[in-house]
Amino acid sequence: MALLPILTAPDPVLKSKSKPVAAVDDRIRALLADMLETMYHAPGIGLAAPQIGVLERVIVMDIGRKEEDRDPISMINPEIVWASDEDNTYEEGCLSVPEHYSNVVRPAAVKVRYLDESGARQEIHADGLLATVVQHEMDHLDGILFIDHLSSLKRNMILRKLLKARKDAE
Ligand code: NI
Repeated sequence: MALLPILTAPDPVLKSKSKPVAAVDDRIRALLADMLETMYHAPGIGLAAPQIGVLERVIVMDIGRKEEDRDPISMINPEIVWASDEDNTYEEGCLSVPEHYSNVVRPAAVKVRYLDESGARQEIHADGLLATVVQHEMDHLDGILFIDHLSSLKRNMILRKLLKARKDAE
């Protein structure tokens, strides 16, 4: 396993659309293992492959708060097949948008179809925090960041601050 560097906005890779995975093989399982290690180390509760520069439809999540509660979910080629009419608002953050948090409104519950790490078809009904996380991570596969759900004024302010922080760090 390996820790991978996480890309931060504004990086053009984060705005790109990811390709479906053709076969769930050892290469994909190694990618999932690296993504989980990177996510836990960050620490974060979700990570999408584009965030480590891999434009493939793969996401990992774990909303367990403590190490002993670890319960990772890996999804390959996830698809939302149902979303609730009811919305929920969560204050979201993102490892690719460090140090910035904002309220985002999304459907409160979703049904997601995906392939697991063995290539088997799975379907879950997600609500609460997991519903938000899975929609946030799936957005990454289409080049969408949580700041894209905010007003352009707010988004541009955050992007300017990220650029400045990067410059200051150089
Ligand atoms: Ni994110």
